[in-house]
Amino acid sequence: MELPFFHKNLLGIEGLRVEEIRSLLNMTTAFKEISRREIKKVPTLRGRTIVNLFFEPSTRTRTSFELAAKRLSADAVNISSSTSSVVKGETLIDTVKNLQAMHPDLIIMRHSAAGAPHFLARHIETPVINAGDGAHEHPTQALLDLYTMEEHGGEVRGKTIGIVGDIAHSRVARSNILCLTKMGAKVIVCGPPTLIPKGIEAMKVEVAYDLDAILPRLDIIMMLRIQLERQRRGHFPSISEYSKFYGLNRRRLERCKPEILVMHPGPVNRGIELEPDVADGSRSVILDQVENGLALRMALLYILAGGRRDDS
Ligand code: CP
Repeated sequence: MELPFFHKNLLGIEGLRVEEIRSLLNMTTAFKEISRREIKKVPTLRGRTIVNLFFEPSTRTRTSFELAAKRLSADAVNISSSTSSVVKGETLIDTVKNLQAMHPDLIIMRHSAAGAPHFLARHIETPVINAGDGAHEHPTQALLDLYTMEEHGGEVRGKTIGIVGDIAHSRVARSNILCLTKMGAKVIVCGPPTLIPKGIEAMKVEVAYDLDAILPRLDIIMMLRIQLERQRRGHFPSISEYSKFYGLNRRRLERCKPEILVMHPGPVNRGIELEPDVADGSRSVILDQVENGLALRMALLYILAGGRRDDS
């Protein structure tokens, strides 16, 4: 299989070339077919060891990396902060150096601190994938989102994509902005002024505060979760007021183009940013995002844990 991706690590969308992203998406299609077979396993990464090191909760990302490893016949080990010696005071770097002494082929890391996977990658030989670092980046989410958008609506170049909600605390928003603008899409970020970072226009996005005004322009709308765990103070008066101005409901969906795609990285706060009938409705591709996430992560593991690479 073609190996177009010449990086040792995947730490962020920044630094990826358009051709590398295109090739990764092409490989994702090949890997998606495996998960639809009756026997969902191929020997591609037999004998390789992949460590999932998650210092923050996760359902979709952790499970899909684990399943991706298993479907490629790699040995997958899951470590969470609560079950590691971090709770006894061991530092991150000591934890990882000890893991490295067991010769894994790849470490996948989620951490609440922005830059934690980058720090790791500077100190160990093993390739590292960033599975979400604080409010910084979540590169595999952006790549699976791009795949899902193009699977349903063709190339994103020239399309208008709204990212709505808590932009300030969202690594998903940041990685998607980097990825979508790189691929030629127009991105509008929308939310309360307190949840839109100052100067975000420098990322080549349009800023909007009135959701109703932008809805008819959008080809794709990505709703974000309100991240109460990352907010240090109230950024809006109440959840019900947030929902009234920025929640996507049936009335708002009717103002959109009929072919609009509704996306959400999960987990969804039902009834806050997304009404259940929209989350489960015919324009929603939320579960397709999850299915594609597994395929994309299989493609990535194949490249970083098994294929040719250099040290860039
Ligand atoms: N989208 C996403 O990162 O979900 P999890 O937190 O469940 O992994």
